[in-house]
Amino acid sequence: MNFPLATAALNSMTVQQMVELIRPKLKRVIIILNNKGGAGKTTTTANVGGQLATALAAAGSSKRILCIDLDPQGNLGLDLGYQGRTGDDQGQSIINVVEGTGPLHVIRDVRPNLDVIPGGKVLKRITASIIGTRSMDPGREIMLSLAQAIAEISDDYEWILIDCPPNIVDLQYLAAVAAEYVLIPVCFDQGSIQGLEGVSDVFEASARLNPSLTPLGVLLFGFDRTNLRKVKNSEGEVIGVREIGFLAESRREITEVLGDSGIPILQTVITRAVKVARECRKRGKTFTELADLTAGEDWKEHSRRHQLNLSVESAETSAIEIEEVTAEIIKRALELEAEAHA
Ligand SMILES: Nc1ncnc2c1ncn2[C@@H]1O[C@H](COP(=O)(O)OP(=O)(O)OP(=O)(O)O)[C@@H](O)[C@H]1O
Ligand SMILES: [Mg+2]
Repeated sequence: MNFPLATAALNSMTVQQMVELIRPKLKRVIIILNNKGGAGKTTTTANVGGQLATALAAAGSSKRILCIDLDPQGNLGLDLGYQGRTGDDQGQSIINVVEGTGPLHVIRDVRPNLDVIPGGKVLKRITASIIGTRSMDPGREIMLSLAQAIAEISDDYEWILIDCPPNIVDLQYLAAVAAEYVLIPVCFDQGSIQGLEGVSDVFEASARLNPSLTPLGVLLFGFDRTNLRKVKNSEGEVIGVREIGFLAESRREITEVLGDSGIPILQTVITRAVKVARECRKRGKTFTELADLTAGEDWKEHSRRHQLNLSVESAETSAIEIEEVTAEIIKRALELEAEAHA
């Protein structure tokens, strides 16, 4: 078993030495976090992960993308369609890592250039696991365990995305200690904005082991498309969009909440597309894959027969939004990386 960072020699290191050793191996690890349920975390993880992997595959790259599901709901397995398939251990390997009994279990190739570490119901044991392990080995820094295990395998990956659960602080801390960046999806309802407070708690709690955790930005998720008004020039050509109504109001409100934190709100908005989202989760497909499917010749007939009422255009719009969000996230992460090296 290849588990070098957990060898006896490394166990004799101080926590500080261990942090210094693994931190360079955790560059480009992004956690998707909001304490509120239904903010768009899993959808963002699956779709941005899918988009990045597609780009690597198209470029013929040998580098890969890894998505990690830290949620007992295991919804990433639905969105990427691997739930219940061979290798879906429902989060057992993540518990093993916390208990120090084994490495992370990677399901390879859920798509070209895309691997996952599955989550699921076994993760409900997390708090009991931490308490039990702590009582048996009080000297061990358990909150570093996931970070250590990811550092073991991170060389294979260009980007690593971690889907965090709402409200389970132990799993959120484990992820925050393992990450370089935090992406915060915020859904259109007030509660999700309140979930931002939970995000700052996670920053505080993980600061001792990961003082350099950096917010990538806030992603506005699930807003009504009618809040985006096309701006046309005198020839009637569309030259941009303007946010109005509740979307414009929410952007102002969140900007206020963020204050002088320096955390940006991404320009791209994921608009509400309930039918697209439902169909994607049901089929285990990304927005882009659904857009390709709906572009097929027999889709119209299929959609009519099953009363799906799902148009090619709405799937395409969702796919384009994800493409733009992914580009924005990577641009911002690379800018931060360049700043750090300057
Ligand atoms: N563009 C969209 N418009 C409307 N609903 C969407 C959209 N994208 C995804 N959804 C749906 O919204 C719901 C919540 O999304 P998602 O599961 O990504 O949120 P989450 O933050 O991961 O939730 P949880 O906190 O429960 O893990 C899901 O049913 C998902 O299919
Ligand atoms: Mg989720």
